[in-house]
Amino acid sequence: MKTNGGALLSSLRIDRASDRKISIQLYMGLKEILLSGGVMPGERLPASRTLAKEIGVSRTTVIDAIDRLTAEGLLEARVGAGTFVSRVLSGRRGVALAAQPGTAGAVAPRLSHAATHAQRLFAPRSWLPHKSQAFITALPALDLFPMAHWARLSARHWRAGREEVMGYGHPSGYQGLREAIATHLNAARGIKCSPDQVFIVSGAQQAFFLISALLLNPGDHVWFENPGAIGARNAFVASGASIVPVEVDQEGLSVADGLAKAPHFRIAFATPSHQQPLGHVMSLPRRIALLRAAEDADALIVEDDYDGEFYYGSQPQPPLKSIDTQERVIYVGTFSKSLFPSLRLGFILVPRGLVDTFAEVSASWLSGVPTATQAIVTDFMNEGLFSTHIRLMRRAYKARHDALVEAMAALSTRIDLQATASGFHTVGLLPDDADEERIVAGAHERGIIVAALSRYCMTPIGRKGLVLGFGGVTPDEIRRGVKTLRTLPDLAS
Ligand SMILES: Cc1ncc(COP(=O)(O)O)c(C=O)c1O
Repeated sequence: MKTNGGALLSSLRIDRASDRKISIQLYMGLKEILLSGGVMPGERLPASRTLAKEIGVSRTTVIDAIDRLTAEGLLEARVGAGTFVSRVLSGRRGVALAAQPGTAGAVAPRLSHAATHAQRLFAPRSWLPHKSQAFITALPALDLFPMAHWARLSARHWRAGREEVMGYGHPSGYQGLREAIATHLNAARGIKCSPDQVFIVSGAQQAFFLISALLLNPGDHVWFENPGAIGARNAFVASGASIVPVEVDQEGLSVADGLAKAPHFRIAFATPSHQQPLGHVMSLPRRIALLRAAEDADALIVEDDYDGEFYYGSQPQPPLKSIDTQERVIYVGTFSKSLFPSLRLGFILVPRGLVDTFAEVSASWLSGVPTATQAIVTDFMNEGLFSTHIRLMRRAYKARHDALVEAMAALSTRIDLQATASGFHTVGLLPDDADEERIVAGAHERGIIVAALSRYCMTPIGRKGLVLGFGGVTPDEIRRGVKTLRTLPDLAS
């Protein structure tokens, strides 16, 4: 049989400068030719000696590659006759292996309806940073974390029984942690609940996805704070729900605005303890109005209490969940702010009527969160280290908040800093003539991170501002950061 081994060889590329082994390159190169239809099914391959000579590699290397491809069924060895392109490849012309970006013939994957539409609607959310620098919003005070205690508890858990730390954990979460969280919520946050209502997830973001997947149908109305949290919004968008931007004023989410825009809402998303990003605390009358509206519409409220532990004014408003007598509130908590974000640990406190559904779905869909991590956090809570850390952080965040307020006084003609009594970020309002984007870019060039208020908005809110984080930034860095901001032409007074 006449072969077209010449064509086969001419398209084989071996890069001797590459870090990749020549045997792997040969195997991958031949495989690509076979799968892309570069040779015909049934065609005989040149003899290994010929191939080796022409490519300039050892015969053993060629034989190894051919053996692997034969084992995979892409080549067929016939005793005494040679090696042939497998007939299973008939009709496979054009199937490209690992198409490179821009490769002609690369197949664009067909996306689901949700992904096609959601991608258009997602708010851009850059990778959240890990470096503490002025004025990062996403990070707690990593510099003050009690690493020695954490290391001690970690060591203890990795020495525990192998099955305990290495096997699959319970999909609803480690029982000890569910109990510790329920105890904490009862004692410290005034929320009456039991451990079976607590579901452990991989951060608040997973909680939002899970809630959306379980409770929303495409087209359902979701009240969403405008401005509001970007990650949570994307999770709701992905479900195909119709996101209704609801105004936020000094008292929090405006129930009147929500009712005017979508009285038959299915879910209202709110950050009552510390509005993301404006920093307001939702007033009690507003909380009651929101609960009533949810009851009237037979809707649910998702309360994102991401940094509510960190109040430093007078006694804070307890979470909305603590006055939820009708079981309308799904409470979402995270350890990203109270401990640190790379834990990827959060929880959902679900109304009693949804416990069975969440348990069933967790068991069917989720693979759980690393057991050791959960066990370490459990001990951290049970040994009182968690509450001590929260108490210390309240003081530290107050000091950092005050350092920001003091330093920003020098910029008061250009930035109206909104003092806050909780959390670890706030907003500096800008005059109407300010160019948010230019300030953000100028700050970035000088090594300072500030976020434009408009990033958090679905529709314009008629206010301009900068979101400034202070919790993850030392007072010295805060002062230096403000000095740098003062060098921006847009902020010079
Ligand atoms: C409003 C809001 N909620 C929750 C979180 C925490 O999300 P996760 O627990 O997935 O880290 C963040 C993170 O920055 C946030 O901005």
